[in-house]
Amino acid sequence: MTLISGYNQSAWEALIDQDRLNPKQTPRKRWRKAQAAEQAFWRNWRQNPLYGHIDLAGFWADVLAKTGGPRLAGHILDIGCGPVPALNFWRDAETQALGVDPLAAFYSENHIVESGPGLEPIAMWCGGGESIPIRDQVADQVFCFNVLDHVAQAESVLQEIRRILKPDGFARIYVHTFKAWICPFLFWDTPHVYHWSPSQFEALLQNHGFRIQTVLHEPKTFDLPSSLWGRLRNLPYWVASHTAYTSYFQLTLA
Ligand SMILES: C[S@@+](CC[C@H](N)C(=O)[O-])C[C@H]1O[C@@H](n2cnc3c(N)ncnc32)[C@H](O)[C@@H]1O
Repeated sequence: MTLISGYNQSAWEALIDQDRLNPKQTPRKRWRKAQAAEQAFWRNWRQNPLYGHIDLAGFWADVLAKTGGPRLAGHILDIGCGPVPALNFWRDAETQALGVDPLAAFYSENHIVESGPGLEPIAMWCGGGESIPIRDQVADQVFCFNVLDHVAQAESVLQEIRRILKPDGFARIYVHTFKAWICPFLFWDTPHVYHWSPSQFEALLQNHGFRIQTVLHEPKTFDLPSSLWGRLRNLPYWVASHTAYTSYFQLTLA
């Protein structure tokens, strides 16, 4: 188990399933391309004028409010946690946190991981959410923020979330979705593996055994330059600001 050490690591170490320690994964070519784009993004994200100014504590407070409120007690698994996970900024004394990300070692080795003042970064397991070496029904919450459209096999990740959640646990998910008419034309957007409309994504969740407790499809906005040239230079973001949503969910097991 490749574990990047961090806050409260032992609470999750006890829940490792030895039989799942050698996950089988067949990464898709498109996923590998998306992950290369992901590495390029995170290497320089603080220099990116569209993102670099973000107040992470405020950003995550907003996401938590839209996906079930500030309750953070118990075992929480953050799948696709990235280098600035919500639990590096918000947690309480009762939080037992573990991140899961195939780029965990990259984030750690390149010193991209950030956390709030006085907070040690959470421990991370370096691997994919399609096959996680953790026992069944142990998580009080699973987070999956801005990840499912980046993974190799979204269906397998949803199955893993279902398997690992306690029967009375809940999942918090957010994902970018698009107006249905534009989805077939987004094949050029290779940093993302999937493009769903809000209703396609809701159907995917329901078909994988989740009950939608709360949902919010919020139109996506970017702080784009006002000039035509400035907008053309940021064409993908300009298109997204007219066609994309951030879709927030709180889910329980159906
Ligand atoms: C857009 S980033 C979001 C990171 C973080 N959740 C956040 O919101 O800041 C997508 C993350 O998903 C991760 N990812 C890609 N494929 C994955 C997979 N198969 N399983 C788990 N995470 C994956 C990437 O490595 C990346 O860290």
